[in-house]
Amino acid sequence: MKKLMILMFFGLLGCSEPEQEHIVYEGSDKEAIISNILNRRAIRKYTKEQVSQEKIDTIMKCAIYAPSALNKQPWEIRVIQNPAILEEINKRFLKFAQGKEFQGSAARYRESGFSIFHNAPTLIVIAGDKSNPAAKLDVGLALQNIMLSADALGLGTCPLGTLVPILNLEENEDLLKLFNIPEGYEVTINLALGYPAESPEAPIRFSDKVKIIK
Ligand SMILES: Cc1cc2nc3c(=O)[nH]c(=O)nc-3n(C[C@H](O)[C@H](O)[C@H](O)COP(=O)(O)O)c2cc1C
Repeated sequence: MKKLMILMFFGLLGCSEPEQEHIVYEGSDKEAIISNILNRRAIRKYTKEQVSQEKIDTIMKCAIYAPSALNKQPWEIRVIQNPAILEEINKRFLKFAQGKEFQGSAARYRESGFSIFHNAPTLIVIAGDKSNPAAKLDVGLALQNIMLSADALGLGTCPLGTLVPILNLEENEDLLKLFNIPEGYEVTINLALGYPAESPEAPIRFSDKVKIIK
């Protein structure tokens, strides 16, 4: 019998925010995806080890097996492992960032050694078809397939929304040309990929966002 053990340490009665959740799932191989979903984390520290072509191929296969409205597959996915290009992308972010303030990890852009993709050795850029009203949703599904398959292979990922507007700037068109992103597509999300050098705790989830109506 499958066992789902959720050990939750709630704060004092009346506290609205529960403390850290530790989730252990023991089920069949097919059910392992549940553990995968519950334990995947956004990784913001990576080792220098590059991800092999074999693993990239598996992850990309999972990406394109995501469902999409009318099976239009309105995405273009680029896997960037060239250090010079990665450095250039980070430089473009830093140029854009000058004098601006950001939320989250990007707020630390003035620190030396800052990398908008957390120094991951691989950056994935996903562009969506601007003319397809379901493209953002479809790209999100491909993104989730990438994150979960990478996690299953022992890799870490972090979505990178902060980089999206920068890559879509007219002045950075040359980068999209270099990546061979077709006309009519826009960068929808980016993703850091590599071997994790940290194992962060899960940020709090709000279970009251779900209501069952019978
Ligand atoms: C669309 C999207 C954009 C995100 N953008 C960034 C980002 O620019 N930088 C970053 O460090 N994390 C980013 N994240 C990661 C979230 O902060 C993270 O998923 C969230 O805090 C929940 O943590 P978890 O993924 O470990 O469960 C993004 C996540 C999503 C889904």
